[in-house]
Amino acid sequence: MKILFSFILSFIFLVFWSCSDAGDPLSNDCTEGLDCAGECGGTAVEDCAGICDGSALLSNGECTNISYTATIQPIFNTNCTGCHGGSSGLSLSTHTSLMTGGNSGHVVTPGDGSGSRLVKKLRGTASGSRMPQNQDPLDETTINLIETWIDEGALEEPQDN
Ligand code: HEC
Repeated sequence: MKILFSFILSFIFLVFWSCSDAGDPLSNDCTEGLDCAGECGGTAVEDCAGICDGSALLSNGECTNISYTATIQPIFNTNCTGCHGGSSGLSLSTHTSLMTGGNSGHVVTPGDGSGSRLVKKLRGTASGSRMPQNQDPLDETTINLIETWIDEGALEEPQDN
């Protein structure tokens, strides 16, 4: 019994010891500070869209080069897919379903953010209710981000330029 106990103790010690210099974000011995990914001494920074190590860039005061997967889809997951996640009507679950549109056709016009039905619904300037329905509107920064993403071509991933 004693042997088993000390074996377990030394095993636990070994595990902790072997992790301690690996930049474990939970240990307190990181003197260089954590980056946004929680890595000790790492260099990852948030991009202008608030994504850690994301690719979006600030240019002319606007956040550009926006990734649908990293930046836009999470906005829909939080605010929209509760109603727009099914098989009928507009689904905002994937890039493909968004681009397919809803009962009245396309809601995204690539290259024309402010003219897209999706953005008009978020601003409350299209017919029907403002989205998200019966909830607080998205803040203007978020709507602008979606608008810029559409202006940039509404691609699933930004292209390298
Ligand atoms: C509480 C449920 C609910 C939520 C949450 C919601 N919607 Fe809607 N949405 C609806 C309903 C119902 C309609 C159809 C009636 C209308 O257009 O006003 C609709 C219509 C739309 C349309 C027009 C579809 C078409 O075919 O023309 C768009 C675009 C849209 N929603 C986008 C969004 C976005 C983006 C969000 C999240 C920011 C969102 N909605 C959140 C219920 C919701």
